[in-house]
Amino acid sequence: MKIADFDLYKDLLYEKSGLDITPDKSYLLDSRLTPIAKKWGYPSLDAMSVNLRALPDPALVTEIVDAMTTNETSFYRDIRPFENFENVVLPYLIENAKRGKTLRIWCAACSSGQEPYSIAMILKEKQAQLKGVRIEIIATDISDRVLATAKQGLYSQFEVQRGLPVTKLVSFFKQVEEKWQISDEIKSMITFKNFNLLDPMTSLGQFDVVFCRNVLIYFDIPTKAKVLEGISRQMARDGYLFLGGAETVLGVTDKFSSIKDVRGLYAQTGEHGTVERASSFSTVSSAGNV
Ligand SMILES: C[S@@+](CC[C@H](N)C(=O)[O-])C[C@H]1O[C@@H](n2cnc3c(N)ncnc32)[C@H](O)[C@@H]1O
Repeated sequence: MKIADFDLYKDLLYEKSGLDITPDKSYLLDSRLTPIAKKWGYPSLDAMSVNLRALPDPALVTEIVDAMTTNETSFYRDIRPFENFENVVLPYLIENAKRGKTLRIWCAACSSGQEPYSIAMILKEKQAQLKGVRIEIIATDISDRVLATAKQGLYSQFEVQRGLPVTKLVSFFKQVEEKWQISDEIKSMITFKNFNLLDPMTSLGQFDVVFCRNVLIYFDIPTKAKVLEGISRQMARDGYLFLGGAETVLGVTDKFSSIKDVRGLYAQTGEHGTVERASSFSTVSSAGNV
C-alpha cells in the first residue's frame, strides 16, 4: 500500500473509531480492505482510495471501520474477572440494591455477545439473592456486524467450547442443528445497541459496573484517557470498572485506580480500597518504567 493511502486509512480509522494503526499493520489494511473494494465494484484498493479521498461515502466508511475492528472474544474470557464480578462486586451491589436501586451494568465493547451473556448467566444464577432487584445490562459495540450475532445469540460448537462451563451450556442453551442457541430468558436481560466509545456518553445514563475489556489496547493514550474519563463520568461514585488483562489506567488517567489485590478491577480513585495513583506513579516512575 502507498504511504499516502496508508495515511488516508490511518487518519480515517483514528477519527471514526479511535483505532491507532501503526505502519507494521499495513498488511491488515490490504487484506481486510481489498475484499471491500471488490464488493463495492472498484477494480482495486487503489481505485477505492482515490474515490474515498474525493467523496467519502458514509456507508463505505462504516464498512471500512467495521472491517478493521478486532472482535476476538469468548465466554468467561480470562475467567478471573467474572469470578471477581461474582464474588467481590456482586455481594457489594446486592447490599446496595436492597436499598431500592436498579443495578445498571454496561458492557462497553461487547463484540458478538459472549461477555454480556456471561454476566447475565451469573446474575441469573444469583436470582434468589437478587429477588426484587431491577437489573439492566446494556451491551454496546461500534460494529453492527458483531451486534447482529450478539442479538441472535446463536453460537458454534467451537464458540461454546471456549470458556463456557458445560453446566451453563446445559442450563442456558438449546441445541439447534450444529449450533447452540442462548435462552430467550438470558437474551431478554440484555439491551444491545450500537455505540461508539468516542461519542458523548451522557445519553447512556449512570452505571454501577462497566466492563470495558480488550478495546482500549487498540487506542493511543489520549483516546484511552478520553474514553476512561467519559466512563468515570457515567459511573456511580462507588461503581466498579473491569479492564482487560493487558490494559491499565496507570499513566493514562487519575480518575480510576486499581483495587488493592484484585487484578483487572478498578474503582473511582479513593473508593473501595484503591491503590492511590500518586503512590503508584512514584513507585513505577522510580523503577524507571514509565
Ligand atoms: C477484542 S473485542 C473485545 C470484546 C470483549 N469486550 C472481550 O473482552 O472479549 C473489541 C471490540 O471493540 C469494538 N470497538 C472497537 N472500537 C470501538 C469504538 N470506538 N467504540 C465501540 N466499540 C469499539 C470492536 O468492534 C470489537 O468488537
